[in-house]
Amino acid sequence: MVIEQTIPSLRNRVRQWRLQGESVALVPTMGNLHAGHLALVKQARELADRVVVSVFVNPTQFGAGEDYSSYPRSLEQDVALLARVTTGDLVFAPTVDELYPEGQEETVYVEVPGLSEILCGASRPGHFRGVATVVTRLFNCVQPDVAVFGEKDYQQLLVIRKMTAALCLPIKIVAGPTVREADGLAYSSRNAYLTAEQRKRAPLLYHSLLTCRQAILRGGCDHAELKLEAEKRLCEAGFELDYFEIRRADNLAEPLGNGERLVILAAARLGKTRLIDNVVCY
Ligand code: PAJ
Repeated sequence: MVIEQTIPSLRNRVRQWRLQGESVALVPTMGNLHAGHLALVKQARELADRVVVSVFVNPTQFGAGEDYSSYPRSLEQDVALLARVTTGDLVFAPTVDELYPEGQEETVYVEVPGLSEILCGASRPGHFRGVATVVTRLFNCVQPDVAVFGEKDYQQLLVIRKMTAALCLPIKIVAGPTVREADGLAYSSRNAYLTAEQRKRAPLLYHSLLTCRQAILRGGCDHAELKLEAEKRLCEAGFELDYFEIRRADNLAEPLGNGERLVILAAARLGKTRLIDNVVCY
């Protein structure tokens, strides 16, 4: 497993692959890899000759008072895990100065209006601007043919799709399904913050999404009522809800009720841990 920390050394590697006619996939991550990340890497393997996994805890997507400084960093362990699932790949682990050479005071940003202010963007102002900015930089550094993102972060996936199309980037965006623990909790680096007791309650977020989906698929169309039921159940179990929403799957707008595809999304805090999850409903 090769680790590159600078943009020129990364580009050299990629150039050599390109000279051999090989295609390249990118899987952007913030590290502390788990089964969800590894599934995306395996998927990327099927899509291209070479896979670059970026490991970078991106400061511009964290708000003031969020967990940027305490976010788990475990590069050595990540590299060992990757070496077990795949061969011949590269980890790109730049420093903050390497990816933001102009300094954070003068960062040049990429904005994706429309999708960035709602749902997680409303609870975390500036978050998707930071995500779009770092992913654009990673795309420009690696210049992959294809990039793989998890459906676990459904809104992020739509932001990236919109940004890639709008900026005419010649990169195919592929979605990977959410990987879950046996009790339904979606893998997340932030699950490590949960106490043992909170960890037992955490799968209720997913189960409340499933209950809502079942009701919709059985013809339940009073979304306000379904939302209220889920909110009540989660609040009684000690979750502090950011949102529980039933939206259009293609653009996260309010449904028009004309049989369009839906996605149910939720974000909630258990203690200091913010959990997000979603299920598509078709
Ligand atoms: P991170 O949270 O590390 O996630 C990296 C990728 O893994 C994202 O595409 C995310 O959707 C996916 N992922 C996370 N948990 C998953 C799960 N349980 N099943 C399947 N996929 C999962 O998302 C980010 O990092 C950052 O915002 C990033 C895109 C790297 C930009 O900094």
